[in-house]
Amino acid sequence: MRVTVCRKAHFNAAHRLYVKSWDDAKNEKVFGKCSNPHFHGHNYELIVNVTGTIDPVTGYVMDMKVLKDLIKSEVEDAFDHKNLNVQVPEFSDLIPSAENIAVVIYNKLLPHLDEDKTLEVVLYETPRNFVKYSG
Ligand code: NI
Repeated sequence: MRVTVCRKAHFNAAHRLYVKSWDDAKNEKVFGKCSNPHFHGHNYELIVNVTGTIDPVTGYVMDMKVLKDLIKSEVEDAFDHKNLNVQVPEFSDLIPSAENIAVVIYNKLLPHLDEDKTLEVVLYETPRNFVKYSG
């Protein structure tokens, strides 16, 4: 019997979507306002889903305090109130689209989970636009 536990988190961050080898006109054509050279911000909402078996002793799939602390150290402390392009090394050569941010978050969290667990990351860039990644 596998059960999924879910934890919501939040961070604010700035980014710019652009391809370094393109000029500003082409970047604006492809990315629109998201290519503003002066950056812009989003209120990102993160949902982390961890699926596993229930420990018969604790009744837990995973201690939510551990998951909360993991998201804080790996995601919130690293991304919150940061300029993703400039201040977060993972995006120095990777466009910080919602898709890529979700993959980076997944790759940061997964090594900290027990091997029998599976992970899904859901990232809302706006209340209506969100992406999912589960490996
Ligand atoms: Ni944006």
